[in-house]
Amino acid sequence: WPAFVDDIEAILALKRERNAIILAHNYQTPEIFHCVADIVGDSLALARTAATIEAQVIVLAGVHFMAETAKLLNPDKTVLIPDLSAGCSLAESITAEDVRLMRQRYPGVPIITYVNTSAEVKAESDICCTSGNAKAVVESLGVLRVIMLPDEYLAQNIAAQTDVQIIAWKGHCEVHERFTPADIRELRESHPGVVVLAHPECPPGVVAEADFSGSTAAMSDYVDRQRPPRVVLMTECSMSDNVALAHPEVEFIRPCNLCPHMKRITLANIRTALEQNHHVVTIEPGIAGRARLAVERMLAV
Ligand code: 13P
Ligand code: SF4
Repeated sequence: WPAFVDDIEAILALKRERNAIILAHNYQTPEIFHCVADIVGDSLALARTAATIEAQVIVLAGVHFMAETAKLLNPDKTVLIPDLSAGCSLAESITAEDVRLMRQRYPGVPIITYVNTSAEVKAESDICCTSGNAKAVVESLGVLRVIMLPDEYLAQNIAAQTDVQIIAWKGHCEVHERFTPADIRELRESHPGVVVLAHPECPPGVVAEADFSGSTAAMSDYVDRQRPPRVVLMTECSMSDNVALAHPEVEFIRPCNLCPHMKRITLANIRTALEQNHHVVTIEPGIAGRARLAVERMLAV
């Protein structure tokens, strides 16, 4: 922590000077999450909060699609991402042209895109969803069949909870696809009584063997409410670190995977972003209008 003090003090001063606010995803490291962030949460909470912000500058401590969502909801504000190359394997797995082809192939079937996509992809879809509201979004459309892009496992996990038929894509999260049902069985053997929480981007076999599955915020709330004596979060490593700091009474078992994209954001580049006003997130107006509609429809569900 002492190594971080200089950057933390500089960031706190820069936020005041620039009327800036920092939104941080649950996968940001504890020094960002606990020391400089104003708002923390899952993708849904960050999008909801972004829709209500008064500050003039928003720094998104997270990945690029999150910064684009904040920009879509705040077209007149400056949205900064500290490292432009903080991407996402799901966002990379699909293009706007792919979505147009899906629409041609399944005429009349509504297209739901996960927020983990580019603004171009959102612009081609009818409505967005996050892991926190996917089932509600699917059922809000009042149809028998939907297309849900691009996370195959999220689509399969939601399909297991609803009567609506879901047509999926083949995208995967490079962090969550690595967990296996065998990992859970080994954990239960080596750590008797452990409660297993899994993100819905994990393969369906993992979610089926977990005790609970939900968005990053839902996992955090589960620990807040239930305070299991022993828990494992089948998700990104910083998530356990952040929740563990708030719950010294809970034993966190920590096999976890790192998201290299989330880890591109550091205190040092948050400071530089505020000092040098970069990297400014821009979205072409022709795309922004349609993408914003998809996000706003999601927020209205
Ligand atoms: P949440 O919306 O659950 O925070 O998930 C975002 C994400 O990128 C998970 O990998
Ligand atoms: Fe994308 Fe997976 Fe990283 Fe989340 S954890 S940002 S879904 S690669």
